[in-house]
Amino acid sequence: MEAAGAEGDVAAELRQRLAAGGQDHVLRFWPELDGAARRALAAELCRMDVAEINRFFRRARGDGGGAAAAAGLDARMEPVPRDVLGSASRDRGLVPRWESRGLAEIAASRVAVLLLAGGQGTRLGVPYPKGMCDVGLPSRKTLFHLQAQRLRRLQQMAEEQHGTPCHIPWYIMTSGRTMESTKEFFQKHRYFGLKKENVIFFQQGMLPALGFDGKILLEEKGKIAMAPDGNGGLYRALGSHGIVDDMERRGVHSVHVYCVDNILVKVADPRFIGFCLEKGADCGAKVVEKTNPTEPVGVVCRVDGVYQVVEYSEISLGTAQRRGPDGRLLFNAGNIANHYFTTAFLKDVVNTYEPQLQHHVAEKKIPHVDIATGQLVQPEKPNGIKMEKFVFDIFQFSKRFVVYEVLREDEFSPLKNADSQNGKDNPTTARHALMSLHHCWVLNAGGHFVDENGTRIPAIPRLKDANDLPIQCEISPLVSYGGEGLEQLVKDREFRTPLIIDEDGIHELVKNGL
Ligand code: UD1
Repeated sequence: MEAAGAEGDVAAELRQRLAAGGQDHVLRFWPELDGAARRALAAELCRMDVAEINRFFRRARGDGGGAAAAAGLDARMEPVPRDVLGSASRDRGLVPRWESRGLAEIAASRVAVLLLAGGQGTRLGVPYPKGMCDVGLPSRKTLFHLQAQRLRRLQQMAEEQHGTPCHIPWYIMTSGRTMESTKEFFQKHRYFGLKKENVIFFQQGMLPALGFDGKILLEEKGKIAMAPDGNGGLYRALGSHGIVDDMERRGVHSVHVYCVDNILVKVADPRFIGFCLEKGADCGAKVVEKTNPTEPVGVVCRVDGVYQVVEYSEISLGTAQRRGPDGRLLFNAGNIANHYFTTAFLKDVVNTYEPQLQHHVAEKKIPHVDIATGQLVQPEKPNGIKMEKFVFDIFQFSKRFVVYEVLREDEFSPLKNADSQNGKDNPTTARHALMSLHHCWVLNAGGHFVDENGTRIPAIPRLKDANDLPIQCEISPLVSYGGEGLEQLVKDREFRTPLIIDEDGIHELVKNGL
């Protein structure tokens, strides 16, 4: 009786607060819920600031946002000027200097990496976090595994060059949907050989999905439809979990922030770090050249003199097709979601600028319980919105912004879709991209591949059709981070495929049929 009375009080208080914000319909099914469901719903609602959600909705939908802000965008865009741009290919002569600067910084334990892993991977359609995906490499390593081993190799390179032990803290942002499974996965794999205290998990916030009228949607009768608040939810989470303080305590100066889904990601890339340091940047973006006007990537540019990423959906085809005097696309700085920030800049963002960031609105098909009938509705067209902040929305606050261009084949192959959906950005393309890169590394180091008859395979093998396999070759990140150090292993040698080179040696797997 007493417990029921207490629950009644909670409900009354909640109802009042929700009613004040016009959201009390979420208690519509309260009488039907059992005790556990009531407690869970009440806890969820108590954590929720309804007035703030309503304010986010008005701002995101209001004068400043969405279509109104995008209007006339094309005319206000300017490409990135050459003086803030560095290129791994066109400025080849400078790359060794940038690399040694970055490695020195890593050796001094002044570099951290921050992984954005709070996304739900809806397009990929796997029931676990994307970083746990095994795309079918000969080693069966997952994305998390590859990233961890790249960090270990970099630490080792920095230590060898500078003679001091060092570490690269790895901050991993998860969401309510991915936290537990991500942590368990790391525990199970003993942090892939990294020190546990240098792998720091923290959780981003969630927001309710709303109908077009701003009303909170229910996923079940006793459950709000919640979604992570976008990868720009990072900045709020950095503050609420004391992450910037932790970075300061560890003496971190430079932070490389990246997305989980790029199989080729060069975590803590010393060249990128060194370039940003040389330029005195507080904020930087790594890009690849966008060569196809209709490729669906955001472009880094200036709008009204301020740096930002403009998503492909926000500009006209005419603008996307514009070309400069050199014949390249005018807006060619394709965002690959690899960013550089100084800790000081992140601190300013957390303390000052974060509240100014506006949510982006994504119209979605959101399954929900119909308030009038109590029936579950699976909409066939968009029926509501999710509100998200984007990680690059803080570029506008940078005092010294730089852009670093790299080659796509070296650094960018994202995993977005399932194999069955379409031929782009799926496990097959990711696996092939990694093996093609490693094939090149072996050739560049003086190695050769031969077929089953012992005949040398041409450096550029002729693929008969799209289903033809590329050369099967995988090199452990513990052996080589970016193609270095392979000569002594492969020079003037001939290999059959599949070939794996790892810390235990060279394995030609053809005989055991792997
Ligand atoms: C992102 C970029 C896009 C770029 C593309 C390259 C953003 C907003 N957009 O697009 O400009 O061209 O990558 O691959 O960065 N995530 C969270 N929390 C969330 C939502 C996402 O941590 O609430 C993480 C995901 O786990 C993932 C990353 O952010 O690691 C990117 O998310 P995703 O939604 O896949 O971005 P894209 O639309 O592919």
